[in-house]
Amino acid sequence: MTATVGTGLGKVILLGEHAVVYGHPALAGALALGVRVRVEPAPQPRVVVPAWGLAVDDGAAVAAIAAIAAALGRTGSFAVHADATVPSRAGLGSSAALCVAVARALGAADDAATEAAAQAGEQVFHGNPSGIDVALATRGGLGLFSRGSGFTPLALPSFALVIGLSGEPRDTAARVADVARQRTSRPAETDRLLGELGALAVAGAGAHDATGLGPLLDRAHELLAQLGLTTPTLDRLCALARAAGAHGAKLTGAGGGGAVLALAPGREEAIAAAWRADGFTAFIVDVGAA
Ligand code: MEV
Repeated sequence: MTATVGTGLGKVILLGEHAVVYGHPALAGALALGVRVRVEPAPQPRVVVPAWGLAVDDGAAVAAIAAIAAALGRTGSFAVHADATVPSRAGLGSSAALCVAVARALGAADDAATEAAAQAGEQVFHGNPSGIDVALATRGGLGLFSRGSGFTPLALPSFALVIGLSGEPRDTAARVADVARQRTSRPAETDRLLGELGALAVAGAGAHDATGLGPLLDRAHELLAQLGLTTPTLDRLCALARAAGAHGAKLTGAGGGGAVLALAPGREEAIAAAWRADGFTAFIVDVGAA
């Protein structure tokens, strides 16, 4: 049998991470970065992603590929080789991009089948993810996602964001579990914070420009901090971005490490330079890619 190929996109959550796990909406966009895979039947499973330093024949990545294959009714084992432009373990949807690319390469018939199969893989990586990452990785664009309604695209042009990597790897399942514990130990306060995060996502979808969106990003970072999801390094990245002229900056994804995004039309290079001068990896990326 010959090899087959597939692609998936990375994503950035502008507003609403964690809230989206509890049914609130989140505002997110696909990145012009992602994963392209080549998949072929093989006697032993294997997953190789040179850009992520990954070359394994067991563990989570192999189990995720097996779960995707099973969801699509495929039998046997597979060798997966991936070219990735999205960084891993940064909250930018790298695992969903991989899962979506593999689901497509294994013959998922359409977007709905791709999302369902990729979500089976994501559950291996992250426990009980909301589905926002696979929705963006599959469909691209920019829009609101909620567990109840799925992905609702917004007809907006793509725009540039600056992404700074904290260098602290993050663990989505562990951070989602932290929030679940807080919902038990202080339910009213936690649900208030999650509700405001979801409301910010709706407000963000209606914002007309960076001047409107920026303060919403700053407020979301404060709320995520109150949920214990920031780190001193993420706070520092946000402070550096604001000092260098960003309209707003926040952690993105699960938190506890990973990435910060900054919105700074016309000042992107200045933000990236400020982060790099402090030793961080930074890049400018188009959001809303299809
Ligand atoms: C991770 O990209 C976003 C979280 O909201 C988890 C999820 O939605 O599955 C933290």
